[in-house]
Amino acid sequence: MNWDFSDKVIVITGAGRGIGFSLATAFGEAKAKVIIIDISAGTVEKAVAELKTKGFQVYGYVGNVTDSVNIENIFADIVDKYGTIDCLINNAGITRDNLLIRMKEEDWQMVMDVNLKGSFICTQKAFKYMMRNRNGCIINIASVIGITGNSGQANYAASKGGLIAFTKSCAKEFGSRNIRVNAVAPGFIETEMTASLSPEIRAEYAKAIPLQKMGTPKDVANVCLFLASDAGSYITGQTVAVDGGLTMH
Ligand code: NAI
Repeated sequence: MNWDFSDKVIVITGAGRGIGFSLATAFGEAKAKVIIIDISAGTVEKAVAELKTKGFQVYGYVGNVTDSVNIENIFADIVDKYGTIDCLINNAGITRDNLLIRMKEEDWQMVMDVNLKGSFICTQKAFKYMMRNRNGCIINIASVIGITGNSGQANYAASKGGLIAFTKSCAKEFGSRNIRVNAVAPGFIETEMTASLSPEIRAEYAKAIPLQKMGTPKDVANVCLFLASDAGSYITGQTVAVDGGLTMH
């Protein structure tokens, strides 16, 4: 599918690597102006340099989604330099896994801060500009764990389940302004993180998936391209699972 996002400004948090970088690549290919925000300066620099060599319009900011002043300043600069924000993808996310009995309060809090509060901050700041345009699209990268829960991931599951509920509330609040808000819930996705798993564990995971294989960051990007495009213009408040059929409801 040849998507065309010419002149559209797409802001992606946590896009220095992993799924976010794949999203930046996909929107860059689709001719968007892609804005990468990531807390890690090294990854921002590397990601921007790599995508620029492909001829994409890509710009980077070192920023922390949990810092509302920092995000407000970055978004103001984006609008100043690139004109507007057409689409925000809240992708920055972390895990701090442990069984609940051993989970430190700071690990609970940190996951909530980045995954949930960070999405709230970025959404609130972007909404200000989208409201003026009476047009916009927000995509929250949740997780199937936010639907099913998972042992050892109570903090992560609560943050992603919260993100799905947040998505629905924002969709209801923003709908009359023609701003759509959806969530994408990836399942097992091949990333640097999962690349270190042994073939036996990967085979075990794959057995539980109706499509019998792990997904790729590109699978996640394809759904985001669709949701952000005019093809998705009557879809809001939904959570699209990209999980090979792992969760069905
Ligand atoms: P990753 O760890 O490879 O990349 C996350 C990026 O977010 C990193 O570049 C990191 O520097 C950045 N980041 C972390 N804290 C930040 C902050 N406070 N402010 C700005 N940037 C920050 O993760 P991955 O695997 O690419 O995941 C991306 C999203 O997809 C996350 O929200 C994750 O929960 C979700 N997800 C991932 C799955 C997977 O299999 N990898 C499955 C389901 C959901």
